[in-house]
Amino acid sequence: MDLPFETITQTPAETATLARELADRVKGGGAVALIGPLGAGKTTFVQGLAQAMGVEGRVLSPSFVLHRQHGRLHHIDLYRLEDHQFITELGLAELLQDSTSIVVIEWAEKLASFPPGTIVCRFSIISDHERRIHIEQIS
Ligand SMILES: Nc1ncnc2c1ncn2[C@@H]1O[C@H](COP(=O)(O)OP(=O)(O)OP(=O)(O)O)[C@@H](O)[C@H]1O
Ligand SMILES: [Mg+2]
Repeated sequence: MDLPFETITQTPAETATLARELADRVKGGGAVALIGPLGAGKTTFVQGLAQAMGVEGRVLSPSFVLHRQHGRLHHIDLYRLEDHQFITELGLAELLQDSTSIVVIEWAEKLASFPPGTIVCRFSIISDHERRIHIEQIS
């Protein structure tokens, strides 16, 4: 997939497929920041990435846990994050520095900044079934 890229998906399956198409870019390691409202398709996107990476088992929304690890894939959901102190406790900075990890972060708008090279995916809800997804890599 060439970046920047923007599309509108019509189904959750299409959103997961889009993530699979992005997977080659992130398989080696790096951060993927997912930004957008409740129900926009962020977790669906992570499920597509996980599938492309051969993660076994279900990828759930980690809203209550903040962090779930599936092999090299770290799935983080900052929805419930209120205290920025917790980002330190979570070890997110260290995780982002480990170049072999793939760190996918839902509600990434809660972070002040992203490391260079982060792939930022912005989701917006167009209708019940349509999601606009814009993907770029920040320098
Ligand atoms: N084109 C689409 N892409 C993705 N999800 C869609 C699409 N159309 C409808 N949906 C529905 O929208 C919801 C997306 O849920 P998902 O958990 O992926 O969102 P989320 O962004 O992770 O939400 P949250 O902020 O609560 O974590 C699902 O119920 C899914 O069926
Ligand atoms: Mg989610």
